[in-house]
Amino acid sequence: MTGIRELTISDYDDMVRLWEQTSMPFKPKGRDSRQEIDHQMRENAELFLGVFDKRMLVGVVVGSHDGRKGWINRLAVSPECRRRGIAQLLLARVEKALRKKGARIFCALVEESNLESVSLFRKRGYLVHKDILYLSRREGEDV
Ligand SMILES: CC(C)(COP(=O)(O)OP(=O)(O)OC[C@H]1O[C@@H](n2cnc3c(N)ncnc32)[C@H](O)[C@@H]1OP(=O)(O)O)[C@@H](O)C(=O)NCCC(=O)NCCS
Repeated sequence: MTGIRELTISDYDDMVRLWEQTSMPFKPKGRDSRQEIDHQMRENAELFLGVFDKRMLVGVVVGSHDGRKGWINRLAVSPECRRRGIAQLLLARVEKALRKKGARIFCALVEESNLESVSLFRKRGYLVHKDILYLSRREGEDV
């Protein structure tokens, strides 16, 4: 039986396992450390969502709201549970939570080669902006 719920810090190890399993480039020493996630969850519990199949975490998403836009981060579905609509469910639910915080624009950063992810977002109505470059300045590799 599959269900979706907000995650808590007690789900942290399972989240990390899923991100590792799906080769997600997460930052375990930076913004995805247990301490940081715990802090973020206390601020925005409703933006951390997981799908469970027989009590096992098989899908995860982390929303964030910067005051202007809603961002979709760290979306991952266990390889054996794909093409069952889990990512679509997570997207719909995290958008709803972001909308409650005022977001009217939803966005995600996706590697160009990640065709399944591009296809997923396009299916939900996201536009691909080929003319935009992503720029960032980092105060360290682990942040
Ligand atoms: C991308 C990912 C989250 C999709 O999860 P999922 O639960 O299988 O997705 P869904 O079942 O909700 O699929 C919804 C739509 O996405 C697209 N899609 C998903 N996987 C696809 C694939 N392998 N090839 C082409 N399109 C795909 C399709 O449009 C699909 O709709 P359809 O099944 O009706 O054709 C999953 O493949 C994943 O975890 N990938 C590794 C991590 C990752 O890349 N995360 C995204 C970072 S932004």
